[in-house]
Amino acid sequence: MGPLLYFTSNRSSVENVWAHMRKSYRSRLWILPLVAAALSWACGNGSSSPSDSGDPQTPPTGRANVEAWLAKRFYQMWTCEPQAHPARPFGAHGQNRVCSNDLLSSAGPGEFPVGAASVKEIYGGSQISGYAVSLHNAPGIAGNTWYWYERVGSGTTAGEGASVCVGCHQQAGIDSEHPGHDFVYTQVR
Ligand code: HEC
Repeated sequence: MGPLLYFTSNRSSVENVWAHMRKSYRSRLWILPLVAAALSWACGNGSSSPSDSGDPQTPPTGRANVEAWLAKRFYQMWTCEPQAHPARPFGAHGQNRVCSNDLLSSAGPGEFPVGAASVKEIYGGSQISGYAVSLHNAPGIAGNTWYWYERVGSGTTAGEGASVCVGCHQQAGIDSEHPGHDFVYTQVR
């Protein structure tokens, strides 16, 4: 009996301590919004910018960010080709389907506006096996004013002005066999 009583009374004192701690935590909760505000200010001014996760019209950059953004399927709300088709002449991507964001889809001739972007679904049979993304993320008409990303299976090519991509895409619009203009072959309107 003795040990049991001891245990019971000991437990209730532990409960008292918990109750006290909960109360004092509650009374300090007002501090949390301040901490959150300070953190978001610090992040907004630090290395992670809002564009790291992109937005429904704008892909982010960097493999992890682009893959997370692709998985949200925002680009499927863009103007897309109705179905996948074999690679066009000069195409390096096999069976594919291209989507243009609003800025790219509505653009006229000349340099595309900053923020214009394309996503290409790359198919292996009837399944999507990878993606290519291009984003005009700086003004100008050089290849490094575009961010390029491609992943098929587990292999990735990514970066501003990725030379393999620029080497071919810079031919868009040079003659009647290379449709499009300003690094974009297929503008879906
Ligand atoms: C040998 C030429 C060639 C190379 C290299 C190439 N592409 Fe393409 N790409 C094309 C053609 C042609 C199209 C038009 C659609 C098709 O393939 O049928 C295209 C379409 C695209 C599109 C859709 C928008 C558009 O311009 O039509 C994206 C995005 C894209 N490519 C990204 C890339 C990336 C990223 C790389 C580098 C990793 C790359 N491409 C390398 C030829 C090429």
